[in-house]
Amino acid sequence: MRLIMRQSEKDAAVWTADYIMQRIRFFSASPTKPFVLGLPTGSTPILIYQGLVGRHKASLVSFENVTTFNMDEYVGLAPDHPQSYHKFMDDHFFSQVNVAKENIHMLDGCANDLKAECAAYEEAIKDAGGIELFLGGIGEDGHIAFNEPGSSLTSRTRVVALTQETREVNARFFSRVDEVPKEALSVGVGTVMDAREVVIAAAGKRKARAVAACVEGPVTQMCTASCLQMHPNVTLVCDEAAIAELKYGTVQYYLEAEKR
Ligand code: GLP
Repeated sequence: MRLIMRQSEKDAAVWTADYIMQRIRFFSASPTKPFVLGLPTGSTPILIYQGLVGRHKASLVSFENVTTFNMDEYVGLAPDHPQSYHKFMDDHFFSQVNVAKENIHMLDGCANDLKAECAAYEEAIKDAGGIELFLGGIGEDGHIAFNEPGSSLTSRTRVVALTQETREVNARFFSRVDEVPKEALSVGVGTVMDAREVVIAAAGKRKARAVAACVEGPVTQMCTASCLQMHPNVTLVCDEAAIAELKYGTVQYYLEAEKR
């Protein structure tokens, strides 16, 4: 695991946007060899999307040959619902860059057959050649995508039940907690682990416990992000507040490692 630490959330987002831009540029994507990018929602990625949009507008990066797969979507929210992840992605990213519509993949939380929707998503990822880089966030309880504590570390895309804690945390986007759907469709921990590279962004004090569990804790289904310890190519990008619960020695080690 690589840990990048920056003082502010903004600095961390700049690092991440630059990194993704470079990865896409050096990949030399083409219509027959697209760059397959996994994408998250949440408040943490907003600054990263702003950074990518800015770099795109400055002609520093093109998304013409980028194929995207989003991590998750609420069950029962139509794509035009203000709190759906479809709407979020459209507002913050897709409407502002040149990703071709046919290259955008998002789970449909209103599909008639949710099980078939999830199976088809896994197939679509496979058909696209697998995910080159999965960008993600981390929940306060250490979840990645919507893989709540107790999710199998080999799980695939499926219907998941959200914990009351996650619903309460995400209630800030809705008017009341009971408006937050109780279920979501989410890629599995195994789906994220299959990506050739994973980049996780964490910012703010409320993520400090999850970051410590992810980096220093045991690999456990009770903090699904901890599974990333088993991935050969993971970068965790944090601001200062998010590393507050890491041990002094851990921080020093990663600071030294970044200088090398
Ligand atoms: C939701 C999303 C996750 C995201 C998490 C943290 O639960 N399903 O993918 O990582 O929120 O989001 P935020 O960045 O808003 O803290």
